[in-house]
Order: sequence, then C-alpha cells, then structure tokens
Amino acid sequence: MSGDARRHAPAAARNREPILAVLREWLPAEGMVLEVASGTGEHAAHFAAALPQLVFQPSDPDPALLASIDAWAEDAANIRPALRLDAAAAEWPVGAVDAMLCINMIHIAPWSAAEGLVRGAAARLSAGAPLILYGPYRRGGAHTAPSNAEFDANLRSRNPAWGVRDLEAVAELAGSEGFGAPELREMPANNLMLRFVRA
Ligand SMILES: C[S@@+](CC[C@H](N)C(=O)[O-])C[C@H]1O[C@@H](n2cnc3c(N)ncnc32)[C@H](O)[C@@H]1O
Repeated sequence: MSGDARRHAPAAARNREPILAVLREWLPAEGMVLEVASGTGEHAAHFAAALPQLVFQPSDPDPALLASIDAWAEDAANIRPALRLDAAAAEWPVGAVDAMLCINMIHIAPWSAAEGLVRGAAARLSAGAPLILYGPYRRGGAHTAPSNAEFDANLRSRNPAWGVRDLEAVAELAGSEGFGAPELREMPANNLMLRFVRA
C-alpha cells in the first residue's frame, strides 16, 4: 500500500456511515457514479467497498488531493483513477454517468461551483439518474442550528464567496437545469442529503 499518500478528514470518518445508508437507497443498482469534490478519497473508498456492483469515478480540482484519492483506491477494483475536475469549468474530463455525488462542496466554493455542478450534472445524467448532495443548508431563509450559523460566519470570514447555501436557491438552480424538486433526508449534525432527478 502507498499508505503515506492517504490523507484523513475527521468529518469523513464521522459521516460516511450515515451517508452510505442513504446512498444504498438512492444510488442505482449498478453503473458509474461520478463523485465531484472527493477530497481525501476516503468516502469513495468506503462507498466502493460497500457497493461493489457500482463503479466510482472520484475527482477533485486540487492536484494535491489526487494522489490521496488514488492511494485510498489502491486495493479497490471498482474505483477509477481520480480525475482533476473543477465543477465550475466549462469542460469536464468525463462523459455520461449513471449518478453523481457531491459531499460538502457547494458551501466551500463560490456559487459558480454550484452552478457548474448542476450544469454538468444535467449534461451527464439521463432521465431518472440522480444528483446527490450532502451538506448544511439554510431553510426558509434561516439557519437550522446555531452551529450552522457559526460555521457560515467562519466560512464567509475565510472567503466572502463561500457560505452555507439556501436550500431553496439550490433547488431553484437545479430546477433551471431540468431537475425536479429534491427528495430530502435530515442527517446528523444538522446536515441534509438532497436527491435531484432529471425530469
Ligand atoms: C470540505 S472538502 C470536502 C471533501 C470531501 N467531499 C469530504 O466530504 O471529505 C471540499 C472539497 O471541495 C473541493 N472543491 C472546491 N472547489 C471546487 C470546485 N469548483 N469543483 C469541485 N470541487 C471543488 C475541494 O478541493 C475540496 O476537496
């Protein structure tokens, strides 16, 4: 194992089981899952081991993370080599897929990344194929917990273009690209999972 390259994200270790439980319901029985913003690659490795009938295509725009993703995937037959993919870019280095997954990205990136994510999903998912998001969201114009408000303030202090997104704004954005209203799951630590499907 090239274990030295594997980076760890404590949050990923905490949230991977609750996310997996929802993915078991929401992902298709087989096919290719494109993960955008794979980060360390821990999630892809965990999900691929638990869902061997699926093939995972991890990606991230940060070249420093690609080696970590590939190191986590080293022993997995159903994880493709990581791609360098910026959701906001006009061109993506991947074609049609059967599902897309993006965990904890759209609040830690400018809104253009959310726009690009949804645009890219609309171009790659056929009718019935899901775009699945995980993260904190504001609902009805308000934070759902004081901890999310503090997190939002912290994000905005680090970069004014970042911040916890409004669920309604994300749903409207997805709707503008042909996705239906999201199915929602409330997750631990005041996070949500959203499942958008092309109409
Ligand atoms: C908080 S980390 C989450 C990583 C991983 N999904 C997880 O939950 O452990 C945010 C990730 O978003 C990625 N990211 C930032 N801007 C992006 C963009 N425009 N397109 C795709 N990924 C982006 C970063 O490189 C980073 O890996």
